[in-house]
Formats: sequence, C-alpha cells, structure tokens
Amino acid sequence: MLKTLAKSIREYKTASILSPLFVTIEVILECLMPFVIAELVGVIEHSGSMEEAEAMATVWKYAGILVGIAVASLVAGTLAGVFCAKASTGFAKNLRKDLYYHIQEFSFENIDKFSTPSLVTRMTTDVTNVQMAYMMIVRLAIRAPLMVIFSFIMAFVMGGDLAWIFIAVVPVVAAALFAIMYKVMPTFRRLFHKYDDMNESVQENVSGIRVVKAYVREEYEKDKFGKTSTALMKDFTKAERLLAWNDPIMQFAFYGVLSSVLFVGSYLIMKGGDTGGYDVTSVSQLIVYGMQILSSVMMFSMVFAMIAMSMESARRIVEVLNEKSSLHDPENPIFEVKDGSIDFDHVNFKYSPTAEKFVLNDIDLHIKSGETIGIIGGTGSSKTSLVNLLSRLYDVTEGSVEVGGVDVREYDLTALRNQVAVVLQKNVLFSGTIKENLRWGNPDATDEELVEACKLAQADEFVRAFPKGYDTYIEQGGTNVSGGQKQRLCIARALLKKPKILVLDDSTSAVDTHTDALIRKAFRDYIPTTTKIIIAQRISSVEDADRIIVMDGGKINGIGTHEELVKTNAIYAEVYHSQTKGAASDEK
Ligand SMILES: Nc1ncnc2c1ncn2[C@@H]1O[C@H](COP(=O)(O)OP(=O)(O)OP(=O)(O)O)[C@@H](O)[C@H]1O
Ligand SMILES: [Mg+2]
Repeated sequence: MLKTLAKSIREYKTASILSPLFVTIEVILECLMPFVIAELVGVIEHSGSMEEAEAMATVWKYAGILVGIAVASLVAGTLAGVFCAKASTGFAKNLRKDLYYHIQEFSFENIDKFSTPSLVTRMTTDVTNVQMAYMMIVRLAIRAPLMVIFSFIMAFVMGGDLAWIFIAVVPVVAAALFAIMYKVMPTFRRLFHKYDDMNESVQENVSGIRVVKAYVREEYEKDKFGKTSTALMKDFTKAERLLAWNDPIMQFAFYGVLSSVLFVGSYLIMKGGDTGGYDVTSVSQLIVYGMQILSSVMMFSMVFAMIAMSMESARRIVEVLNEKSSLHDPENPIFEVKDGSIDFDHVNFKYSPTAEKFVLNDIDLHIKSGETIGIIGGTGSSKTSLVNLLSRLYDVTEGSVEVGGVDVREYDLTALRNQVAVVLQKNVLFSGTIKENLRWGNPDATDEELVEACKLAQADEFVRAFPKGYDTYIEQGGTNVSGGQKQRLCIARALLKKPKILVLDDSTSAVDTHTDALIRKAFRDYIPTTTKIIIAQRISSVEDADRIIVMDGGKINGIGTHEELVKTNAIYAEVYHSQTKGAASDEK
C-alpha cells in the first residue's frame, strides 16, 4: 500500500528528505540551549571570583552563543516547515492528479464498482487526511523520537543518574497514551465511514435538489441529514472524550517526575557532602529536559494517532489506484473502421461476473452498412445493454461483436469510439457554451460544420433564437435548456464525429413527433451511408426504418419491417395498436 502511495511523491522527494534533516538540526540546537544556559548560570554564580571586565566578557560570550543558537534553530525550524509544507501539499497534489488520471481510464464497469460520490470523497477528504499524516510524518515523526533521545542524553550529561527517572516514566506514559489511541482507533475508523455517508447524502441531495423539491421531500432529506450529522457528532464526542485523557495523564506524569526530581535532588543537595554534583542549576536543567521528553512522547502519540486515522483513507485511495481498467487496447490495434456493418455473433452478456443471469441472451444479429435499424422493447428489455457493446462501453461475456468486419476488441478504443457515436440515454451537457459542448464531438469542427450538424439535428433554429446564439452558456447538467433541446444538441454533438455508426438511445423521447420525423428525414437525406440504430419507445420513431428489432427480456423477439412485424409479432402489434389507439383517442 505504502509503495503505491509513495509513487506520488516524485519531484517532492528532495523536500521530503530536507525537511527531517532540518528538523534534526533544529532538535540538536534546541537541546544545546539549556546546556549553554546552565554554563552561563554557572559563570554568573562564580563571577564573584572574577574581575568585573572579565566576568562581563564571559557573559557576553555566552549570550552571543545563545543568540547564535537561537537564530540558527529558528532558521532550521523555518526551513523544515517550508520544506514540509512543500512536500506534503506537493504529495497531495500528485496523489489527486494520479487518482484523477486513473479514473479517466476507468471503463463503465469500473465506474459501476465505485459510486461517483465515493470517488469524489476519495479524491478530496481522503487525500487531505493522507496529506495531514504525511506532513506529520515528515515533520514530527522524526522530531519526537529525536527529541526524546537528545533530551535524555543531555539530561544524563547534566543530571547524571537522576535522568533515569525519565526513562522509567517514558514507557509508562507511552503505554497509557497508546492504550488511549488503541481504544479511539475503531471509533475514528467508523467516523470516516460516517463522513462518507454524510458526503454521499449531501452530494446526492444537492445535485438532485430539483427532484427533492419537486417531490416535496425537503423535510425527509433534512431529517436524514440531521441523523447522519448527529451520528457523526456522537462519534466525534466519544473519540474526543477518550482523547481528553491525554492531558491529565501528561500532567500527572509531569508533576510526578517533577516532584521526584525535586525530592531526590533537594534531598541530595540538603544532605550536603557528596551530592553527586547536584546543585540548584542541574536540578532545574533536569526538569527542563524532562518536560521536553514528555512533550515529545505526547507529540509522538498524536502523530501515531493521525497516521493510524489516515490508514483507512490511504486504503481507500490505494483501492482506486490499484483498480485495473477492465478495458484494454489490444497490442496491435486497428485504427481504420472499414464500414458501418455490425455483426453480433451469439453474444451473451452480463454486467458483473458474479451475476446469475445474462442480461443479453444469445444475440445473433447482422446489420449491413448504411442500414437504419429501429429497436423497440419494454423497459429493462436490454436495449441499452445491446448498443453499449458496440462502442465497447462494456465487453461481451461470451461470443463477439464485430464492427466493419473486425472484432471491436481489436480496434484502438479512441478510433472505434470516434466511428461509433452513441447518444446515450442518460446524456449530459457540460457547463460551457453551446459551441464548446458541440466540439466535444470534434474539437476541430469549423463553425459551418457546427451549424450543419445542428441543422440535421433540428437544433439550429432554437439555438439561433437564443440571444447569444451559439455562444449561449449552458449551465452544469444543461439545466437552462429544455429536455428536447438538450437531446437535439446531444444528437448534433454526435453527428459532428461524422461516424460510420450512429446510435440514438431513446434520444428523441422529449422531442415532438413532427421534429422527430424531420430529424429522421435529415438522416436519410444527408448521411445515407451511416448505419443508424434508433432505440425508441414510440413506434412512429422507428416505423420507417429498414428493419426493426423487438427486444424482450434480453432476447431478440422478432426482426422485420414495420408491415411484417405488425402482422407477425405479437409484442410489436400490441405496442403499435396501443399507441395508435392512444393517438386516435387523443384526437377526439
Ligand atoms: N450498469 C448496470 N449494472 C448492472 N445491471 C444493469 C446495469 N445497467 C442495466 N442493468 C440491468 O440490465 C437490464 C437491462 O437494462 P437496459 O438498460 O439494457 O434496459 P433498456 O431496455 O435499455 O431499458 P429502458 O427502456 O428503460 O432504457 C436491466 O435488468 C437492468 O437492471
Ligand atoms: Mg435503455
């Protein structure tokens, strides 16, 4: 896991090494400081035996050294901080970028596996957690143990045997702190999951706010949100309550050490005679080092907590990074799609390898280049699943799908998708101008080509009616255009690819029948060689197709022209009659 994460450090390796280096320098200097002060105090104590000038000179010398050490330590500390910030933010940036790039490679199957909000949470909250942990590691994880070691050495040098008191106390304090952490950890882990739940609920409801309002579900949603955030609060309080023990334990240890050092120290001093070299100065020095040791232990326990906390986040990030895209380009890909012919050869398909039933069953279907094919069938009859295989949004489970006489798995993916343009059932426009949106189809399209595609898709007229025409800004998700307008823009966008195969998955459902007919006429007249596959709920959208496929429960129930199917196919005939009757009664 760490190896995968470490890959994202890259150009910030130097900073990641320099920071602890400067921390080490800072720690050494900080530990020297009380030592020099002690010397100085010693000089002052014995100044009575010196000439005044000589004494002053010595004091100045020590003062100079002190200031020098202080400045050097400050500089080292600042540099450590700067490098640490650079290393951790740089690492987080790379990590986000790696995640983002990796997600772009995902196939539909991969995306099905992780939900969108979960991917967003992983890229934001989880990366931030790991960034914090990394910062702690670079800066404090080295500082704390170093501080303990150096402080102890100095305490030993200055205070001799009394320093053992610290050694005795450190494991006790450390054990207590780690015990707290151990208890807190599961709560924190649960807490991150709750964070996830809350983020998911926020994202889902904010992006679906119109639906929430339309169904007057505000109260319900508020209630739901209230519950998740209260649960979060409760867990946080629980964790904090445990963590609050840190303080009293530290205080207890600190005063315990203080009184033992004072007690033993003063006893030795008062006893007089052989005090083992203890005097007021050395005892007070010992206390200073003792404080440093204890605070370092505390710091270390905090670092430990933070690292442990971010482990869950790290795991979630690595899970995404290690997810292999389920679609691969072949070794020697074919870039040229010969024509728009399509052959399904005994295709079986299911979305997940573990699913029991196939979504598509033994599909054997052969379409000539330039044909117009209609597909009709009830909801869930696998119409979308069928066409998704054409542009390799998913791969077949068994059998094969050929386009232009070549198995789709042998094409370069980009080349294939440029030739098989699909107007998805759940299509989206992105925030940007209409022109920008259209150019998703073909970045190099000229303005004339944009207009031409829009004319075919019957979009030109309404686009021109907008005050800003083709420069009209589309809001995120296309909320400022009507459903039918959006569909027509999506069709125009697909047309700009000048594809050999054009798939419209229920793409004119929100367009009135008259405009729908105009679009189909334009297709017939202007792109006769393109194979057109039109999925629709309305018979009128497909009745003039060369052939119509009737899908039922993942199988082909019938194929033929409108006239043939009305006579021979029960499902088709029923749909046809129900729709014409409906139209007839509408007219009354
Ligand atoms: N991403 C997916 N993961 C798992 N199962 C899916 C997925 N998409 C669709 N299915 C399932 O596959 C079956 C066929 O769905 P499909 O979307 O192909 O139907 P459809 O004919 O296009 O329906 P509609 O007319 O409503 O668009 C359904 O049972 C559906 O639940
Ligand atoms: Mg569908």
